[in-house]
Amino acid sequence: MILLTGGTGYIGSHVCMALLDAGHDVVAVDNLSNSSRASLERVKSLSGRTVSFWHADIQNEEAIYEILRACGVTAVVHLAGLKAVAESNVAPLTYYENNVLGTMRLVSAMKRANVKSLVFSSSATVYGMPTYLPLDEKHPLRPTNPYGRTKFFVEEMLKDLYKSENDWRIAILRYFNPVGAHESGLIGEDPRGTPNNLLPFVAQVAIGKREKLVIWGNDYNTSDGTGIRDFIHVVDLASGHLCALSHLKEPGLLTANLGTGKGASVLEVVRTFEAVSGRSIPYAIGERRVGDVAVCYADPTLAAARFGWKATRSLTQMCADHWRWQLKNPNGYGGT
Ligand code: NAD
Ligand code: UFG
Repeated sequence: MILLTGGTGYIGSHVCMALLDAGHDVVAVDNLSNSSRASLERVKSLSGRTVSFWHADIQNEEAIYEILRACGVTAVVHLAGLKAVAESNVAPLTYYENNVLGTMRLVSAMKRANVKSLVFSSSATVYGMPTYLPLDEKHPLRPTNPYGRTKFFVEEMLKDLYKSENDWRIAILRYFNPVGAHESGLIGEDPRGTPNNLLPFVAQVAIGKREKLVIWGNDYNTSDGTGIRDFIHVVDLASGHLCALSHLKEPGLLTANLGTGKGASVLEVVRTFEAVSGRSIPYAIGERRVGDVAVCYADPTLAAARFGWKATRSLTQMCADHWRWQLKNPNGYGGT
């Protein structure tokens, strides 16, 4: 039995699908602060499997301990967390409490219940401003915002834990830019309010919910002047968790990038989305967003070498799947 924290969220619902498809039993935990149960209902009907759901906060160590014991959990895939960079700048304590303290409570419950296998979702944001590219796992870690620092501190905490008790089996996964949706169009990203990230914003412009995209800067030192990111299909990302889990058969701590190794510019994303949707995406050029880097993409060779994982889906597929989800669910989970 796998405990999946953040199981009703965007990435969590796709990881849940992947786990169920691979034959794992799953118990999902979420405090529903940024998601709803609807995603899990979709996952159940898509997979034809049941998933038990506990409405709980990872900061509640007793509740987590009870779940670990009652459900016979053998490994935890930990995705629960707050993830908005701008919000973390105005509410840093909320981020440290939720992401760092929450993970401490979760891991303490795991220790008490003697469940010592953990996959943790970290982020490429821990690297900060790249000093070289592609970013490999040895690149210095200098996160530039409180959100990124919560991921950094959790990584350090897990390393210290492993040093002190080397029977733990820990995989730290640094995601690059997850986009897209399950090819069924039944599960996908359902941001609350104005989307912070590029793809959900572009999709909402394409469907007419927003007038135009603002591209934050076209004066970067890149081929077309716009920022470059390593967009990765969320279904590829989810399969990375399965590979990491199978790697946890032996004690150890492994840190791996989950990216494609290829960068795409903001304008390339806009053009690709226009092509797959047949809609035009009006845009304006705005000032650079504070804290943005020009170019960021992964060296994903370690994940391939250590646990046999490689992303396979193209940018066209990412946009096509994102668009299918947007078309089928114009109001996300709320309006369907
Ligand atoms: P999401 O907000 O859709 O999912 C996170 C889930 O965690 C939500 O369902 C939320 O309700 C839940 N949650 C938050 N705090 C909780 C708590 N204290 N107890 C229980 N549940 C709690 O976000 P996502 O995009 O699916 O991200 C999942 C993880 O991946 C996060 O940890 C995020 O930091 C990390 N990540 C995301 C991205 C990205 O671009 N989406 C990139 C890198 C890393
Ligand atoms: N962008 C725009 N307009 C928008 C939104 C984004 O031009 O309305 C641009 C950004 O300037 C950037 C690119 O699109 O050049 C990607 O921006 P996102 O906000 O989608 O993604 P980020 O790379 O800024 O950050 C994301 C997550 C972080 C995570 C990081 C990992 O938001 O939490 O990827 O690489 F840590």
